[in-house]
Amino acid sequence: MAEHESLEYGKADFVLLDNVSMEEFMGNLKLRFEKGRIYSYIGEVVVSVNPYRAMNIYGRDTIEQYKGRELYERPPHLFAIADAAYKAMKRRNKDTCIVISGESGAGKTEASKYIMQYIAAITNPNQRAEVERVKNMLLKSNCVLEAFGNAKTNRNDNSSRFGKYMDINFDFKGDPIGGHISNYLLEKSRVIFQQSGERSFHSFYQLLRGAPDSLLRSLHIQKDPTAYNYIKVGGQIKSSINDGADFKAVADAMKVIGFTGDEVQTVYKILATILHLGNLTFGVDGDVTLIENPKLVSILRELLSTKEENVEKAMLYRTVATGRDVIEKQHTIQEASYGRDALAKAMYERLFCWIVGRINDIIEVRNYDARVHGKNTVIGVLDIYGFEIFQNNSFEQFCINYCNEKLQQLFIQLVLKQEQEEYQREGIPWKHIDYFNNQIIVDLVEQQHKGIFSVLDEACMNVGKVTDEVFLQGLNGKLAKHAHYTSRKLSPTDKSLEFDRDFRIRHYAGDVVYSVVGFIDKNKDTLFQDFKRLLYNSANPVLKAMWPEGKLSITEVTKRPLTAATLFKNSMISLVENLASKEPYYVRCIKPNDVKSPLLFEQERCRHQVEYLGLLENVRVRRAGFAYRQTYPRFLQRYKMISEFTWPNHDLPSDKDAVKRLMQGCGFDHDVAYGKTKVFIRTPRTLFSLEEQRAEMVQRIVLFLQKVWRGTIARMRYRRMRAALVILRAYRRYKVKSYIREVNRRFKNVRAMKDYGRHVKWPTPPKVLRKFEEALRSIYNRWWAWTLIKGLSPEEALQVRAKVASLEALKGQRADLGLQRAWEGNYLVSMWDCSEDSPDTASSFTLVSSELQRKDKFMRVLFSCNVRKINRFHKAEDRAVLITDRHLYKMDPLKQYKPMKSIPLYNVTGVSVSPGKDQLVVFHTKDSRDLVVCLQGMVPANESRIGELVGTLLSHFKSEKRKLQVNIASPIQCSMNGRKCTVIVEPKINLTQPDFTKSRSGYILAVPGN
Ligand SMILES: Nc1ncnc2c1ncn2[C@@H]1O[C@H](COP(=O)(O)OP(=O)(O)OP(=O)(O)O)[C@@H](O)[C@H]1O
Ligand SMILES: [Mg+2]
Repeated sequence: MAEHESLEYGKADFVLLDNVSMEEFMGNLKLRFEKGRIYSYIGEVVVSVNPYRAMNIYGRDTIEQYKGRELYERPPHLFAIADAAYKAMKRRNKDTCIVISGESGAGKTEASKYIMQYIAAITNPNQRAEVERVKNMLLKSNCVLEAFGNAKTNRNDNSSRFGKYMDINFDFKGDPIGGHISNYLLEKSRVIFQQSGERSFHSFYQLLRGAPDSLLRSLHIQKDPTAYNYIKVGGQIKSSINDGADFKAVADAMKVIGFTGDEVQTVYKILATILHLGNLTFGVDGDVTLIENPKLVSILRELLSTKEENVEKAMLYRTVATGRDVIEKQHTIQEASYGRDALAKAMYERLFCWIVGRINDIIEVRNYDARVHGKNTVIGVLDIYGFEIFQNNSFEQFCINYCNEKLQQLFIQLVLKQEQEEYQREGIPWKHIDYFNNQIIVDLVEQQHKGIFSVLDEACMNVGKVTDEVFLQGLNGKLAKHAHYTSRKLSPTDKSLEFDRDFRIRHYAGDVVYSVVGFIDKNKDTLFQDFKRLLYNSANPVLKAMWPEGKLSITEVTKRPLTAATLFKNSMISLVENLASKEPYYVRCIKPNDVKSPLLFEQERCRHQVEYLGLLENVRVRRAGFAYRQTYPRFLQRYKMISEFTWPNHDLPSDKDAVKRLMQGCGFDHDVAYGKTKVFIRTPRTLFSLEEQRAEMVQRIVLFLQKVWRGTIARMRYRRMRAALVILRAYRRYKVKSYIREVNRRFKNVRAMKDYGRHVKWPTPPKVLRKFEEALRSIYNRWWAWTLIKGLSPEEALQVRAKVASLEALKGQRADLGLQRAWEGNYLVSMWDCSEDSPDTASSFTLVSSELQRKDKFMRVLFSCNVRKINRFHKAEDRAVLITDRHLYKMDPLKQYKPMKSIPLYNVTGVSVSPGKDQLVVFHTKDSRDLVVCLQGMVPANESRIGELVGTLLSHFKSEKRKLQVNIASPIQCSMNGRKCTVIVEPKINLTQPDFTKSRSGYILAVPGN
C-alpha cells in the first residue's frame, strides 16, 4: 500500500477502494490521471497510464527519493518497483524480472527505459570503469534496437515491432556486469508492406534523411523515400520524428557499442540493398522472365560485393536438386517477385538478429567465476509488443496477440500463486477467488493437434496446392465448437467476417478478426536456397557471416525447417518458463486515448483495458484475503503511537503480541488475521481508521517533538554560548597573562639598566588592558622618575623641581626652555657672564651679594643675571637683577653691583614673558610698579634663561605655598607706577643687542632680526 500521498490525488493503491467496482476503479484511475499521478498500485503491481507528455518525475532528485526505499514509503512509481526488484535480487539473491504489459502505445518501452535508467543510476557507486561501460552499453543498445526494430504504426509513433527481453546480470555487490538481449519475432512483413498511415522501420527513413550525401551517393540512393516502393507509403507521412537527428544518434551509439567501421557500412549497404530490391521489376520476353531494370542489378552487385550474373541468376532462377541431378528452374514473374520480397524480408530480419547478436557479444558477462564472485543474479526486463488490433490483422498480429495471451496467463498464475503462497506461508486459510482464466485461449492457439498453430503447420505440410483457404477450412473443422473461435462459415449471419478469409478470436483483450491471407507463406517463411548461397558467397565478410547456411551444397538434404509459428510458440514457451522461474514484478500500462492527447481520458477505452488486463480481479484477489499486510515490526513502527501499550515501546514478549494488543485495544480484532511474521488486515476501512488515529496522534507527537526539539536547540545554543564564553574568558586570561608575563620579562631588569628601562619597548596590550597599560606606564614613569630623583643632591633636586615647574607653565607656549643644560641660577657669581667687561665684577658681585645676605638674611640666591632695563621715564639702562628667596634686587653693574632698589619677593605677583625667543620678562608687583627687563650677557650668546627664571620662581613660590601668575603674551600688558602700558617685541635688522625704545602705548623691545 502506498502511503505519503494525500487523498486529494485519489487512492494510491486500488486495494484501498471502499468497494471494488468498475465505477470506483475508473473514478480513481481518472482522478489520478487528471491530477498528474500516472502511477498507482494494486498491491505490488504498478498500474501506469501513458501521460503523453513529458513528466518531470524521472530526474536525479526523484531517483534519490526512491533509492533503497520500500514500496509503500513513497508515492507509486516505476522506480519503486525497479528498486523492489533490485533489492530482492541483492538482498535475497533472487533472480527477478519486471514484466511490462499493455497494448500498443500504452508506454511499455518508455517504462522499460526508465527502469533501466534507474537501475543504472543506483548501481556502481564506486564508478568502476568496467561496470560503467556495461551500463553505457545497455542504455545505448536501446537506441540502436529501436531504430531497427521500431516503426510508426497507426497506434504508436514508436511501436516496438519485436519483442525484447533483456537480462541484466549483477555481481554479488549488486553492480551490473553484463547482460543479454533476447528478441522475439520481428514483424518483417513491414519491410515490404505497410498499411496506410504507417511507416516501415525507422532505420530506412533515418538513412535517407540523415546520411551525408557522400554516403548516399556510394549507396546509389536518394533522399526521397517516396522513390522506393518498399517504404513509400510511410515516406509521405508527416510526424514529429526527427529521422536526421536519430540517424546520427544511432551511428554514435553503434560506434560506442563497438561496431566496426566495416560493420556499420555493411548495415547501410543492406538497408540500401533492400530499398533497391523493392524497385526491381520483372517482365517476360516470350518464355523468359527478365529483370526490367538491369541497372539496379549492377548496383545490387556492388552493394552485396558479389558477381553481377550471380545476382541476376538468383533473382530469376531456382536451383532444384532432383535425386542426383541439379536443374535450374526459371521463376515466373510471381515467383521472382515473391523471391525478391522474401529476400528483402529475410535480409532485414537477419540484419536485426545480427545486430542483437553483436550487442550481446559486447555486453555478455565475461570472466565471471561464480566460485570467486559469488552467485551471478539477474534482473530481466520484458518489453514486448502490445496487444493490437488493426484494420487488417495478419499472421504477425496473431503472434503478437498470442504472446500477450501467454503473458496474461503468466500474470494470472503468478499473482494468484504468490498470494496463495503467502497465505500458506503465514498459515492463513485461503479462499478461492473467481477470475477470468485465459488458459482456454492460450490452448486455442498452442495446443498440440487442435490448436491454431498446429492446424497451420499441418496445412503447410500438405502436399499439393496449399492455400490460406485450406488452412481456414482446417480451423473451421477443428474449432467449430470452441467458444473463442468463429468464422463466417460458423456464424453465417455475422457480416463483419468475410467468407473464406476471416476468422475471429475472442481474446482476453477483445475480439480480433484475422485475415488468413498470407498465413501459409508467412508460416513457411521460405527463402530460396539460391539467395542464401548468393549472400554467403559475398566478398564482404560481414555479410557472409550473416548467412552461414549458404555454405550447404545444393544436394545436401536438409531437415525441413521449423515453421515460423512453431519457432514463435517455442520461444514464447521458453520465455514464459524463464519468467516463471524468477520473482516477477508487474507494470500494467494503460493507454488513455487513441489520439496521443495528454488531457483525454477516454472512459470506455480505459475501462476496456482495465477489464481485459484483469485489474479488477487483481484487486479482488489481493483483497480476497486481506487488503493489507505488514510484518509485525514494521506495523508497530507505523502504528505504535495509537496504543498506550505500544508507545513508545512495548514490554510484551513479541512484536506479534504487541500488535494483537494494539488491535484489541482499537476493537479491530475481528478484521485481522495474525500470520507467522505478518499481520493481515481484511478491510481497507480498518486500515484507514488506523491511519486516521495515527494522523491524530502524529499531530500530538509532532508538537511534542517540536517542544523537545526546540528545548534541545535552545539548550544547545545555550551550551554553545557558554562554551564560547569559557573559551573567550580563557583566551582573555591567556592574553592578559601573556601580556603581563611579557611586561614582566621586559622590565624585570630595568633596575640594573643604565636608563632604568627607558628604552624598553612596551608590548602592545590586548584591548581590555589599554587602561591598565596606561596606569602601568604611569606607575613605571613615576618609579623611573623617583629612581632618578632619589639619587639627586638637594641642589639638583631644586633644579629638577624648577625645570618641572617651568615645563608645566611654559611647555608648548615658548620654544627653548633650556631644560637640557644645567641651571646655574646665580650667573653673576660665575665668571662667564661678567668677565667680558670687567674681570673683577664677579668678585664685586659676590661681595655685594654677601653683604645683602648678611643684611637681609636671605637663605639662597634664586637667580642673578645682567639685564637691560627700561624705566618709567623711558630710559633704558644696563642693570643686574639678583633674586633671592626674599627679595628682587636691582643693581648697577657699572658701579660694582651697587644695589639700587629691592622689591620684597612677596610683592611680586606674577611674571609675563613673550611666546618668542626674546629674553623679555616683566615682573608684576602688588603696587603696580612692574619691572620690565630683558635678560642679557648670556654665555653662550644665544642662550635662553627665561625658562629657568620662570621655573625657579614658580618652584620657589610653590615651596612657600604662594601663587605666582605666569602670563605668556604678546604684547605684554604692564603697569608702570599705575600707568598701564604694553611692551611689544619687534625684530630689527642690523641690531647687535636687544634694546628698549619707547612706543606710543608703552615700549618696544627691539631684537636683532634679519
Ligand atoms: N512515461 C511517459 N512519459 C511521457 N510520455 C510517454 C510515457 N510513456 C509513453 N509515452 C508516450 O507514448 C508513446 C508510446 O509509448 P511506448 O512506445 O512506450 O509504447 P509501447 O507500449 O511500447 O507500445 P508498442 O507496444 O507499440 O511498442 C511514447 O513514444 C511517448 O510519446
Ligand atoms: Mg514498445
